[in-house]
Amino acid sequence: MSNYLMVQKEIKTNPYIGIPRSAGRPSLKKERKWLNELINEIKKGDAAVCVAEVNGHVVGMCDITLAGKSPEAKHVGSLGILVRKGYRSMGVGTQLIEGSLKKARKRFKVVKLDVFGFNKRAQKLYKRFGFKVYGVLPGAFLRGKKLKIDNIMMYLKFD
Ligand SMILES: CC(C)(COP(=O)(O)OP(=O)(O)OC[C@H]1O[C@@H](n2cnc3c(N)ncnc32)[C@H](O)[C@@H]1OP(=O)(O)O)[C@@H](O)C(=O)NCCC(=O)NCCS
Repeated sequence: MSNYLMVQKEIKTNPYIGIPRSAGRPSLKKERKWLNELINEIKKGDAAVCVAEVNGHVVGMCDITLAGKSPEAKHVGSLGILVRKGYRSMGVGTQLIEGSLKKARKRFKVVKLDVFGFNKRAQKLYKRFGFKVYGVLPGAFLRGKKLKIDNIMMYLKFD
């Protein structure tokens, strides 16, 4: 099972997992399309990606991809990160961000990201790398009947 699907499954038992839930399970065809597009972006030099591997299996990934399609925003990258359950709190996320930012420095001037308000651990991790909060959208996501999730927007500007 892909790391993404694994986390989507994890949300059922832990509603505090910090990525937005997708509408239904993405098909293998859709996952292949996403992966092919990402590989093309990497080949074009428009994506900075690092993966963590254990025994040939990917257990974590950090990707910094073009944040928007506008030719006037080609200097802005958008960061996403995921570490598979069982491999967290071992420094994997730290290594992934460090590696991706190193690559991203050569391509982007600004990197932005979105993080759930209650995901203090991830926010702490991003702050350690110099990310700053530039906005909050209260109740940006609704998970289940009661859980309102704020969206914290952060950015890092390269010197
Ligand atoms: C958020 C996430 C990416 C962090 O990845 P991680 O691999 O757990 O992060 P790290 O292990 O590098 O850092 C986390 C902690 O380990 C500590 N750590 C770092 N290097 C370490 C090492 N070599 N040995 C032990 N601990 C270490 C860090 O100090 C940090 O401490 P903290 O718990 O006090 O914050 C991961 O938990 C995850 O995928 N969560 C689910 C999805 C998610 O929330 N994604 C982010 C969406 S915005």
